[in-house]
Amino acid sequence: MHTNDEELKRLLQKVFEERGLDFRAYNKTMLKRRLARRLCALRTESYKEYARTLDTHLEEYKELFDSLIISVSHFFRNPLTFEFLYEVILPEMITYKEQSRDAMIRVWSAGCAHGEEPYSVAILLAELLGERLKDYRVTIYATDIDTNALNEAKVGQYTEDSILEVKKGILNKYFHHKNGYYQIGADIKALVDFCFHDLTSEKVVVPSQSVFTNFDLILCRNVLIYFNQELQKRVINNLKTVLNEKGYLVLGEAEILTDDGHSDIICRNGLCKIYQKTSQGFD
Ligand SMILES: C[S@@+](CC[C@H](N)C(=O)[O-])C[C@H]1O[C@@H](n2cnc3c(N)ncnc32)[C@H](O)[C@@H]1O
Repeated sequence: MHTNDEELKRLLQKVFEERGLDFRAYNKTMLKRRLARRLCALRTESYKEYARTLDTHLEEYKELFDSLIISVSHFFRNPLTFEFLYEVILPEMITYKEQSRDAMIRVWSAGCAHGEEPYSVAILLAELLGERLKDYRVTIYATDIDTNALNEAKVGQYTEDSILEVKKGILNKYFHHKNGYYQIGADIKALVDFCFHDLTSEKVVVPSQSVFTNFDLILCRNVLIYFNQELQKRVINNLKTVLNEKGYLVLGEAEILTDDGHSDIICRNGLCKIYQKTSQGFD
């Protein structure tokens, strides 16, 4: 196979110019591995030839996106992280909101796949706030570049595989089981606002639906692993910028916040990759 870096660069540039999706700063090893499958399936020998296939077979773009974007998730993925959010982080956040008489709770799930992650957070907030939920304006922005996944997320129907980590009591309370699917309840759905947002964008740094540009909690889990180091740094800096003072950032368990330039953030749980933005007066 003739798959050199220069040809790869040209292929990614073409995809960006023609489809607007920017994979140019994605992890090169991952890209090459995924592209190899497409080239193999089409018996194509080079990126150059593959680029020509894209011109003549436009439907191949969909196959390409499907192989580059892996929207795999499930409810309460990495249960320890959600336990820590439920037991420590969210109660602390609610207490801080009460003390500062701030009735807005703003969460962003960046790279939300089919909605499993934002709905999981919505369920935890509903559990913790109970009757007090109506006293708060809770908005969970949930964004992704996979428009099919976003459309399915809005419907909120899940198969057995997605709900394996959901405790029985939670399942009965927040889901309806019908026609072989688990349908997320309307009250939880109402808390989540799905929209397209590309984390690689340099111009748009918050979800377009969001009027305000500050968040109490941002989850960006299992997304950064797709990006090269430079892009990871830029995305983390963007996310940090839009975090409220004392706001929380949650990364995927396999993702690390590199040491440099993060004196304004402390690690709250190293295993769960939960960080908190600090301020001069942090106590
Ligand atoms: C493996 S899933 C992670 C889903 C969820 N956060 C979790 O941890 O279970 C990665 C998601 O990141 C999304 N993604 C990839 N590149 C992205 C980008 N540039 N901007 C926003 N989302 C992106 C993919 O479409 C996919 O849905």
